[in-house]
Amino acid sequence: MYKILHADKLAANIYRMVIDAPRVAKHCLPGQFIIVKIDEEGERIPLTICDYDREKGTITIVFQPIGASTQQFAKLQTGDSFMDFVGPLGKPSEFCEEDIESLKQKKILFVAGGVGTAPVYPQVKWLKEQGVVADAIIGAKNKDLVILEKEFEEVCNLYVTTDDGSYKRKGMVTQCIQDLVDEGKKYDVCVAIGPMIMMKFVCKLTKELGIPTIVSMNPIMVDGTGMCGACRLTVGDEVKFACVDGPEFDGHLVDFDQAMKRQQMYKTEEGRALLKLQEGDTHHGGCGNCGGDK
Ligand code: NAD
Ligand code: FES
Repeated sequence: MYKILHADKLAANIYRMVIDAPRVAKHCLPGQFIIVKIDEEGERIPLTICDYDREKGTITIVFQPIGASTQQFAKLQTGDSFMDFVGPLGKPSEFCEEDIESLKQKKILFVAGGVGTAPVYPQVKWLKEQGVVADAIIGAKNKDLVILEKEFEEVCNLYVTTDDGSYKRKGMVTQCIQDLVDEGKKYDVCVAIGPMIMMKFVCKLTKELGIPTIVSMNPIMVDGTGMCGACRLTVGDEVKFACVDGPEFDGHLVDFDQAMKRQQMYKTEEGRALLKLQEGDTHHGGCGNCGGDK
């Protein structure tokens, strides 16, 4: 059992939990995810890691209840436990493997949207620990939905923008990127994590601005094991699976329209059957280790 050491609410319908999971905490890196299961009958839910403390042996997760399982998670309190907490899974963020000295020369822009703000945090924190101070934009619909502002301020140069202008800058994250560039900022790379529609439009803009961009395709994952086929996507001319090959990809190569259409189709039994028929043997990614039958 994996004990919830602390549970709180970051905003309306956004929950944070600190879990006692020393083995995951020892090995995880920014960009990776875990699979959590509440009990024997529970669904396997993949969630991106939002923070880790190797000394205390803890992992922090942040989630927005959407389906039945995450609604159940939201009812858990400090002292309760999850039955399974498996990870770390997926590939770490690309920069974790880069030479630190060359990373220090780069101007990196993080773009975090809504609940997607949470998985950006371990990335900016890790970079700060290596002596790299990045710029980050947090975008939220309104003031009440801005999360982790204090935590971000400690580890990066932060810009906050709200769609309705109720707090700090006004407008969507794309407006803020354009404003920063117009103010004279230059970036070598952008990392965008948030709703699919946000990542699509950030990539459209950064392509025009000539800024290479990484995105996290975590939102299309379902079982997180390479078995269900939900997270199939096209990256350039290749078929990839977010849970096995990602979750992070070159955003300028991702076919967002196809990924969003598949995500909708995957919600119904009829849609899943149709996808299976259309995609045949390439429908799923395999066992999650070997890359499967692609
Ligand atoms: P939201 O709808 O409140 O959007 C957050 C911000 O994204 C907005 O404030 C805006 O600045 C920007 N945005 C939205 N639409 C845009 C557009 N068309 N053009 C430019 N910018 C746009 O976000 P939310 O309701 O908190 O998001 C929930 C979603 O986040 C879920 O669908 C979940 O799957 C996703 N999510 C993604 C990740 C990931 O790894 N990519 C992680 C956690 C959550
Ligand atoms: Fe099921 Fe990737 S989430 S195959």
